[in-house]
Amino acid sequence: MRILFICSEYEGLIKTGGLADACRGLAQSLLAAGHQVTVALPRYGALYQHSTVEWQSVYFNLAGREFGCAVRHFNLDGVDIALVEHDDFFRRDRPYDDGEHGYSDNPLRFAFFCKAALEWAQQTEQKFDLIHGHDWQSAATAWYLKQHYANSSLAQVPFVFSIHNGAYQEKCAPHWRRELDIEPQRHDELNFLATALSYADKLNTVSAGYRDELMHEPEAAGLSGLYQQRAADFTGILNGCDYAIWHPAKDPYLSANYDAGDLSGKARCKAAIRQQLQLSEEKVPLFVAVSRLTGQKGYDYLLPALSLWLAHTGAQVVVMGTGEARYCKALTLLQQQFPAQFRFVHGFSEAMAHQLEAAGDFFLMPSLFEPCGLNQLYSLRYGTVPLVRLTGGLKDTVKPWPVRGASGIGYTEPDISATLQALKQAEELYSKPRSYRTVQQNGMAQNFSWPKAAEHYVALYQQALWVKAH
Ligand code: ADP
Ligand code: GLC
Repeated sequence: MRILFICSEYEGLIKTGGLADACRGLAQSLLAAGHQVTVALPRYGALYQHSTVEWQSVYFNLAGREFGCAVRHFNLDGVDIALVEHDDFFRRDRPYDDGEHGYSDNPLRFAFFCKAALEWAQQTEQKFDLIHGHDWQSAATAWYLKQHYANSSLAQVPFVFSIHNGAYQEKCAPHWRRELDIEPQRHDELNFLATALSYADKLNTVSAGYRDELMHEPEAAGLSGLYQQRAADFTGILNGCDYAIWHPAKDPYLSANYDAGDLSGKARCKAAIRQQLQLSEEKVPLFVAVSRLTGQKGYDYLLPALSLWLAHTGAQVVVMGTGEARYCKALTLLQQQFPAQFRFVHGFSEAMAHQLEAAGDFFLMPSLFEPCGLNQLYSLRYGTVPLVRLTGGLKDTVKPWPVRGASGIGYTEPDISATLQALKQAEELYSKPRSYRTVQQNGMAQNFSWPKAAEHYVALYQQALWVKAH
């Protein structure tokens, strides 16, 4: 199949979270399975350093306004990257916000992105069999494809839409409907995610568990009715883990490599991070977290729980991330309160993400909700026992100790006392080296394969093609 991805992040090019990893992981696996993949991405500021080999210009009319842009290409490991270039819209340092607030022209930017990608797809000689959009940034495609291209070469091309995070919907004032020509006869607010849920030919989200949660409130963030209406077209496909990138025996970022048979390298990684962050060498467990600092990741109950717990334990904790100011402030405070045990690394670097994954004894991921989650998959492979709240994809991928075959610590209630209990449970597990080792080994033996996920996507694509043809 010739598949066109419409997405706003791609690992190695632009990333604010797991969406980037997932888009790359799936694109590479589809390619390996013999399909052809083009990835349309906005040309953000950071993407001007990539030289392109060919380009086309695209002109179109949107709600009475004339627009033009260039679509520039380069090849990344076999995948054709098609950058939609428009300096005013996309040549900015950050994709969606200025660091504090979302850009006020986001509705126009991402409607433009979708329309430009479709216009290019219609003009290009390569004929796509299917278009696959990811998250709200690609959602306008669902409407434009049906309304603007019904009599074009794209008429028979289905649109499959993946929900990586149902909380990001991009709701905007009713006037945007007219300005973007998205259901202009309606007078209520425009919700990009809802538009895709209504008009895509097939839908999926990134785990079966989260798919079921989206049928209800509050998990569906107001859209449960729509998910229920589309239930027959809506499936859950678990993300994979890119084991070429997340491979402790070959990871070039690590100071020592290791595998399940010999974990001595892991101990060296732990010592290296301790030295780097000035944490003392002691016989205590190291807990790590790498994440966007948002309510989704459970910080509202994790931070108070840590504050209570650190006063009574010798354990060490390192959190790396960027995000909401209130969490940054609370994390900075924790470090002041517990200078011997707690480190907040404010920022994000791919190298440090790998080093922390390798160094930790436990990985903290007590999310309030989690569509799939990739960091727990990386942790499992790195022998860093994940401590998770059993929700969405976390519930689907981590078996909580002490059940047979356990691969992590798991708990249910999203509150401070349950989180505190889970932290204590982790300490208890760590104090039983044989049990800890078994849980660690169980995790390292898991295989969350992208090729398997890609097979499910191909089956979904085939269903979408069938529906479109009948
Ligand atoms: P989510 O997509 O909700 O952030 P996942 O666990 O699916 O959660 O994916 C997280 C991915 O994003 C990992 O590759 C992680 O290293 C990376 N990541 C975590 N925090 C940041 C950040 N602040 N900026 C950029 N990437 C991040
Ligand atoms: C989103 C979700 C995360 C998921 C990722 C990739 O950012 O929050 O759970 O793993 O997308 O699908």
